[in-house]
Amino acid sequence: VTAYKSEVRWIPLLLMGSLGVLAAAIVWSLWQLRRHMQRRQAAEQALRAEHAFRKAMEDSLNTGMRARDLTGRITYVNPAFCRMVGWRAEELVGLLPPMPYWAPEALERTRAVHEMVLGGHAPPQGIEIRLMRKNGERFDALLIEAPLIDSEGRHIGWMGSMVDVTEQKNAQELARQQQERLQATARLVTMGEMASTLAHELNQPLAAISSYNTGCINMIGSGDMSPRELTGILEKIGKQAQRAGQIIRRVHAFVRRSEPKCEPVDLNAILREAVGLVEPDAERRGVNIQLDLAEALPPVAADPVMIEQVAINLIRNGMDAMANIPRAGRDLLLVTRLQDDMLILSVADRGKGIPPDVAEKLFAPFFTTKEEGMGMGLNICRSIAELHRGRLSFEDNPGGGTIFHFSIPVLT
Ligand SMILES: Nc1ncnc2c1ncn2[C@@H]1O[C@H](COP(=O)(O)OP(=O)(O)OP(=O)(O)O)[C@@H](O)[C@H]1O
Ligand SMILES: [Mg+2]
Repeated sequence: VTAYKSEVRWIPLLLMGSLGVLAAAIVWSLWQLRRHMQRRQAAEQALRAEHAFRKAMEDSLNTGMRARDLTGRITYVNPAFCRMVGWRAEELVGLLPPMPYWAPEALERTRAVHEMVLGGHAPPQGIEIRLMRKNGERFDALLIEAPLIDSEGRHIGWMGSMVDVTEQKNAQELARQQQERLQATARLVTMGEMASTLAHELNQPLAAISSYNTGCINMIGSGDMSPRELTGILEKIGKQAQRAGQIIRRVHAFVRRSEPKCEPVDLNAILREAVGLVEPDAERRGVNIQLDLAEALPPVAADPVMIEQVAINLIRNGMDAMANIPRAGRDLLLVTRLQDDMLILSVADRGKGIPPDVAEKLFAPFFTTKEEGMGMGLNICRSIAELHRGRLSFEDNPGGGTIFHFSIPVLT
């Protein structure tokens, strides 16, 4: 049998070949797919870890965080925020203002703050507002708001962080109350020191009333009195009684303990009141008080009793400083003037001046060089100045002695 030399069968060969190539391609792409899946898994793992880390961070924060969209709707709150306000995240997300944690009594202000934030005018240092927990308890929160920008750079809402500052506020309030009590005590001490002089001062009108009264009785007894004469004497009695009343009123107004006020006050008028109180003391010590007051000063926003306390402390320090100089030279000059936007009260004495070692400690509480001094006078003056956004400073008086300047911003 002889085989024919047949033709080569290309087609099955080609088929076989392409099958092989296809099988290889499948193996290769399967391998690629596996690699791709592995990479994807690793990326997902990393993403999950990152997400878990961020969530853990957010959850363990003590700062409340809240996101809102551009309309003010809450889109996210963290657990600290929920802890602070007492509502659960599901109850809060999706809400529009007014929020349930807005305290009803501060609704107007909270709404104004809300509008301010949505308008993009939130102050970068934050705003303090009073909020309410679910159980009705009130708390003070410091709120810092910033625009929320997405990955494409679009502004999609607002992100706020919130810190509970109730305790800080309480501590501040306590410190303020203590300071106030200290000031009130210091005023009582000042009055105590001036009591004998004031009693003496009060005695004068009373003695005058008494003698006018005796005069009247005598005149009535002797029968030779004209109604005109009598009226004159009675008017004098009235004047003396008014003088006594004024002294008592001044003392009472000065020592009375009341909540600090902030009202428009006339610095010159307060200064005159203060001088009225210390004048008897000044006379006894041979101190000549001169006033040089600028006219038509604008009012300042202040607590009148506190400003009077500053004036009296400075005047009394000036008088103390001149205790050891000849009587003829004991001049105390009080000046008021307007400089830029500040009213300045200057008290210039001709005393011994302030040596550098004393100057260092001048404003420290309980620092005194006097036997009977409490050492609180200047310290209190400085706190009062700071409370009114003013300043207290001193310089040498060119003619000898010291000048203290107390400045306070004018009411705008
Ligand atoms: N005008 C002044 N001239 C010289 N020394 C002064 C003057 N004012 C204050 N000092 C010094 O500063 C110290 C502290 O004054 P500060 O008014 O605080 O307390 P104090 O007058 O001693 O006591 P008080 O609490 O009764 O006012 C004074 O003891 C005094 O040595
Ligand atoms: Mg003093």
